[in-house]
Amino acid sequence: MSPLHVTRTLPEDATDAALRADVRDGLTADPKTLPPKWFYDARGSDLFERITELPEYYPTRAEREILVARAGEIAAASGARTLVELGSGSSEKTRHLIDALTSLAAYVPVDVSESALTQAGRALIAERAGLEVHALIADFTAPLALPGTPGPRLVAFLGGTIGNLLPAERAEFLALVRSQLAPGDGLLLGTDLVKDERVLVRAYDDAAGVTAAFNKNVLAVVNRELGADFEPDAFDHVALWDPDREWIEMRLRSRTAQTVKVPALDLAVDFAAGEELRTEVSAKFRRDGVTAELAAAGLELTHWWTDAEDRFALSLSVLR
Ligand SMILES: C[S@@+](CC[C@H](N)C(=O)[O-])C[C@H]1O[C@@H](n2cnc3c(N)ncnc32)[C@H](O)[C@@H]1O
Repeated sequence: MSPLHVTRTLPEDATDAALRADVRDGLTADPKTLPPKWFYDARGSDLFERITELPEYYPTRAEREILVARAGEIAAASGARTLVELGSGSSEKTRHLIDALTSLAAYVPVDVSESALTQAGRALIAERAGLEVHALIADFTAPLALPGTPGPRLVAFLGGTIGNLLPAERAEFLALVRSQLAPGDGLLLGTDLVKDERVLVRAYDDAAGVTAAFNKNVLAVVNRELGADFEPDAFDHVALWDPDREWIEMRLRSRTAQTVKVPALDLAVDFAAGEELRTEVSAKFRRDGVTAELAAAGLELTHWWTDAEDRFALSLSVLR
């Protein structure tokens, strides 16, 4: 069994500095926001895995259906020897792709969640003899220091995570991905599709309250890391559909007028009763939009696959 290589490309204090900057900027903005990458400490990653198993959360099942049906076609079109996966989480669905990529030498999962990366990496090297796993603890919105594993590379960005970036951030992110690809490399992109509002809202506001706990976990992260005194029960989980921007927003609504202290930032944040803090957007896509956003980054969409109910799409762009 080959060892699991784990590389932290950001020093601990850089992560800390990024959290401080995001929390200061977000909690002093109007309206208040926090970026979704801070959901994912060990508890947040576990809660996300529970979300993927909820009856209301169709994206994981829909994307897995496409991967099971199309992994052979994806493998044939990409011929990848290295699979890089951005925001890999548990790498659970990725196994279908890994199995189909018969010439695969290395798998490079990239995530901010160290717990998710090491758990998934250890399981994979135990299951797949001969596969090198180089886990990168890194922020995928910054240039990556990829290991010198053989090409061609396939960069997979699954789970609809691209929808968590705002449009300008997406453009910047896709241009960055494009700049890191060589001829013959490809991008496999998972995008959740626009659909009935009720189906969408239910997927982000489940009956068992797992998504609510996930949403409030960002407050626990800020409490632990920056000594804040957020009281998670003093906020309600809110999921709503914005039909103009075609995205779901997750918010935390303050139940009362309250002041939250963030000692590490020497900050006191006032919330009015009913005031909302935006914690995530999850954009939903149409084929034309995905094609145009890829093209703007210099990527040509060559394949488009959906599940049987047209809920989710995987697209492939291979660089000529
Ligand atoms: C919505 S989950 C998707 C997980 C998995 N790809 C799936 O399809 O089930 C998003 C994942 O991206 C990671 N993530 C979020 N923002 C990130 C960032 N800026 N850089 C690296 N990883 C990030 C999270 O830790 C989490 O594992």
